[in-house]
Amino acid sequence: MAPPKDLLSISDIADRLPSLLEEAELLKQTRRTGPKLASLSGQNFAMIFEKASTRTRTSFEVGIHDLGGQAIYLSKSDIQLGRGETIGDTARVLSRYCDGIIYRAFRHADMVELARTASVPVINALDDLEHPCQIVADLLTMKERWPTGFHGKRLAWIGDGNNVLHSLLLGAAAVGLDLTVATPPAYAANPAIVSAAETLAARSGSHLRFLQEPSEAAEGADALYTDVWVSMGEEAETAARTRAFAGYQINAALLRTAASAAFVLHDLPAHRGQEITDEVLDGPQSAAWDQAENRLHAQKAIMMRLFPHAPSV
Ligand code: CP
Ligand code: NVA
Repeated sequence: MAPPKDLLSISDIADRLPSLLEEAELLKQTRRTGPKLASLSGQNFAMIFEKASTRTRTSFEVGIHDLGGQAIYLSKSDIQLGRGETIGDTARVLSRYCDGIIYRAFRHADMVELARTASVPVINALDDLEHPCQIVADLLTMKERWPTGFHGKRLAWIGDGNNVLHSLLLGAAAVGLDLTVATPPAYAANPAIVSAAETLAARSGSHLRFLQEPSEAAEGADALYTDVWVSMGEEAETAARTRAFAGYQINAALLRTAASAAFVLHDLPAHRGQEITDEVLDGPQSAAWDQAENRLHAQKAIMMRLFPHAPSV
């Protein structure tokens, strides 16, 4: 089956996750020792970013370079999109120069519009609904630590029902990982995403549970995951969110209630002292730095699958 044109949601690649993870593992093992790869040789990629980024921008740029292609970083404020040129016109023009577009957007509707109007593949580098590339890297991080696979393992999410949780719900449900979610009642996951995840879970045998109490979710879990309380674009809600999430911190006491071999995931950037303590993030059970590295390997695997090879001359 041909790959989907775009990667807007992790559900677009739900059936391909096992093979993508294998490919990413191989790319990781051979990055320094294997032959120079040229999968994206002669190809150019526009990277439109409406928001800040450390990991996503750098790992895509380095990954494209590793595969022999060229990345062109386009901050929204530097291109005409920031002065009112439409998304559709931007997509049509960039499709004439480039072989793919990587887009970090405020609004998922804009992501969908860009993909609809671009004739080249579009990869979602985070929007307000999903962060699919992050979760491919996170699944790789978990796979490395669980040699027997995802089945029978339980991950607990502590915090906001946000973009990262949405992709995690779909990704966990696709690969058969059990996920228990603890969110404050007013910050639960999007019901449409929950319903799509439950459909995937029914196929894979994954169990999804939705709670409010962090200690209940963390108890006996094989891994804990959290993210910021205030995502990019939500800064006006900072005061209300800081109050609502006050009990939703991964700290040493919460971690002690998880399985003894449990590890802790955080997609970063972290707000140290809020959703996670220094002690946990810098401690021996933190997997956050491997997660950050795995963005590179995961995205290279994604690009090798999604972007057609350059025509030979
Ligand atoms: N995790 C992540 O996407 O980080 P950046 O915002 O730094 O890209
Ligand atoms: N939920 C966070 C993730 C950052 C990588 C945000 O959207 O800001």
